[in-house]
Amino acid sequence: MDLSGRLDALYERHLTHSEKIHWDYHDLLPWELGRTWRANPWTPQDGTLSPELILAVETALLTEVNLPWFTAGLTRGFAEAPPALKHFIRRWTAEEDQHSRTLEVFLLLTRNGDPVSRNRLRRDVLEIGWGLPAEDLLGIMVYTTIQELATRTFYQNLARVSQPQDPNLARVLHALARDETLHFAFYRDAVAAYLERDPNGLEAVCRVIPSFAMPGAGMPGFANRMHVVERCGGYGLDEYVRQVIRPLLEFWGVFEHQVSRAVEQDRLSLSHHVARLEQVADRSRRRSKSRG
Ligand SMILES: [Fe+2]
Ligand SMILES: [Fe+2]
Repeated sequence: MDLSGRLDALYERHLTHSEKIHWDYHDLLPWELGRTWRANPWTPQDGTLSPELILAVETALLTEVNLPWFTAGLTRGFAEAPPALKHFIRRWTAEEDQHSRTLEVFLLLTRNGDPVSRNRLRRDVLEIGWGLPAEDLLGIMVYTTIQELATRTFYQNLARVSQPQDPNLARVLHALARDETLHFAFYRDAVAAYLERDPNGLEAVCRVIPSFAMPGAGMPGFANRMHVVERCGGYGLDEYVRQVIRPLLEFWGVFEHQVSRAVEQDRLSLSHHVARLEQVADRSRRRSKSRG
């Protein structure tokens, strides 16, 4: 099958699977908890979740709200892409559209987090926007694969942390994680199809991974937020390296393909980069273990 046929098949597979896991946000949310804001203004005592968990969910929400910018960027980046990729961006936008809404309404219904300061932050984040992390199609898809898998891993781990505090939140996060799983699988396999056609495309993998930053990285206080998420939300450098980067390198056969001399050099730098990340992750794991 040629590349365009492979991408068509991946898009068809995505449609079939996403129909099977379809969910409606009104079904997932605890509407019975809702109270009017005018008669019951928010107070910090209203929250039911730990401050760390509220911050983690708000961080997820503030990342998802940038969807208009993601769609604008990807539409431009995929302007010359095969039809299946263009169709996918439209479908993906429709599926992502529920994510920020669901998280935001959950926080409002359960009165977790100050709605006024969050709404200001939301506006600031949308004003900051988002720009494409690469200009070439393969580079963009390497980025989106990592980003979707990282988001899936973050939501799954956060769901586990949330379960004892609020099973409703865990259910919401699992639904989002299932969507992210399909998004990640589509991009991962599209990248694999490009690499099969030309293994020197690995240059894009070697270029994108060292500069990878989550799409929410531009939001105010992002580094501090991720620090809290790493300590209490089940997602940090260790999970990024072991549950995101390593599995992708293996799936794409990054160290197995026959490549040109130049790409061989890029690959060497990449393996040093990943080894360094692992060392840092190991050190911080040992430190947090010894702190108990
Ligand atoms: Fe999402
Ligand atoms: Fe996604």
